[in-house]
Amino acid sequence: MKIKPIRGTHDLFGEELKKFNKVVYEVKDKAKKFGFNELITPIFESSELFKKPLGEQSDVVLKEMYTFKDRNEDEITLRPEYTTPMIRAAMFNGLLNNLPAKFFGTGQMFRRERPQKGRYRQFNQINFENFGTDDIFSDIEIINLANTILKNILPHRKITLHLNTLGSRENLKDYKNTLSKYFNDNKNLLSADSVNKINANPLRILDSKNIEDKDIIEKCPKLVESLSKSDLNLYEEIKNCLIDLNIATYEDPKLVRGLDYYCHTVFEFKTDDIGSQDTLIGGGRYNGLIKALGGKNLPGVGWAGGIERIMLLMKDIVSDEKNIHLAIQDPTYKKYALAMYDFLIKNNFGVYWNYKYNLKKSLSLASDKKAQYIIIVGELENTNNKYALKNLISGEQKIVDLKNILDHIK
Ligand code: HAM
Repeated sequence: MKIKPIRGTHDLFGEELKKFNKVVYEVKDKAKKFGFNELITPIFESSELFKKPLGEQSDVVLKEMYTFKDRNEDEITLRPEYTTPMIRAAMFNGLLNNLPAKFFGTGQMFRRERPQKGRYRQFNQINFENFGTDDIFSDIEIINLANTILKNILPHRKITLHLNTLGSRENLKDYKNTLSKYFNDNKNLLSADSVNKINANPLRILDSKNIEDKDIIEKCPKLVESLSKSDLNLYEEIKNCLIDLNIATYEDPKLVRGLDYYCHTVFEFKTDDIGSQDTLIGGGRYNGLIKALGGKNLPGVGWAGGIERIMLLMKDIVSDEKNIHLAIQDPTYKKYALAMYDFLIKNNFGVYWNYKYNLKKSLSLASDKKAQYIIIVGELENTNNKYALKNLISGEQKIVDLKNILDHIK
């Protein structure tokens, strides 16, 4: 019986795993430099943590969560995102006493979506959150952090920052009402999918990809026209700071994001290079969410990025680690091979022992595994402690002393 992986999940190994680890390494490095502490939360939580905050009507909750009943009938959900678990963990562990509190995490998320390139049912997110401040520099900082990480991992790619503001929560509520009314009045001109969203989530109609909706969306009341002067000023200030930081920004008035908790700044880093799942990183401000989860009335801002999507854009990683193989001519030389093996490991080199005891087979295996060096352990060292060192890239072979071998490899 051959058991297949579940649809939308994948195993990670080889080149792909190298890319994955590079992303995580870069994230941890930048987290440290920007002063964000790691916070790891469980993969499953009580379902109620996600239901209301993400929006009972949002796509994530309605269609995509993996929810099940535990033996004692508790309803449990595999986390579809990291922001709400981070808030729960920060509140539960008393981590919100010194503000602002800045956290990051990486890990698996689960959404039962239709799998396609860049969209999976189990995927990994990088997540950064800053709790407890609405200073616009926290918006700038979090965007700059995303930009820095993407620039370092994908220097060869064109990635664009899309930016919008939703205004305050109160403003957004009024605007949603205006929008519902407008779409209700024009219901007969909308697609069935959009009609379903009119009362529950009219903002989501704005980013509908359905051609039927295009005209009616074009003519709808604009969010920007509903914004207060002070909200507009904040937005201007953010845009100016991004210019000062040389972060090219595309203002995208249709950008509303898929989760219900956002207000003020929303943003996405997008690419044209991977097809329809083109958002690498998405985030924004969520003042009110911590309170909605039973905490103090603290503001917050953050983002999450899909590691697998970022990996789709990465080049293969050329490792500068030395790949050294041992070739042992005959089992009688095992003792010398062991001494060489120990010497290399103690000097912080990696070494691969193939158990072949046959020079021809060892050379062929080393070449299959793209080894850079092969050290041949045989008669020479038996007599005078010398080894044959073959550089498999240049083809050059030398006889070297044990004490000099590291200089040759370096
Ligand atoms: P999100 O837009 O739902 O936001 O997801 C963020 C990123 O996760 C996406 O831009 C994408 O790269 C990746 N992603 C989402 N779904 C999938 C999938 N099915 N397969 C592969 N990658 C995927 C959030 O999750 C918010 N919690 C972000 C946030 C943090 N906002 C404030 N703080």
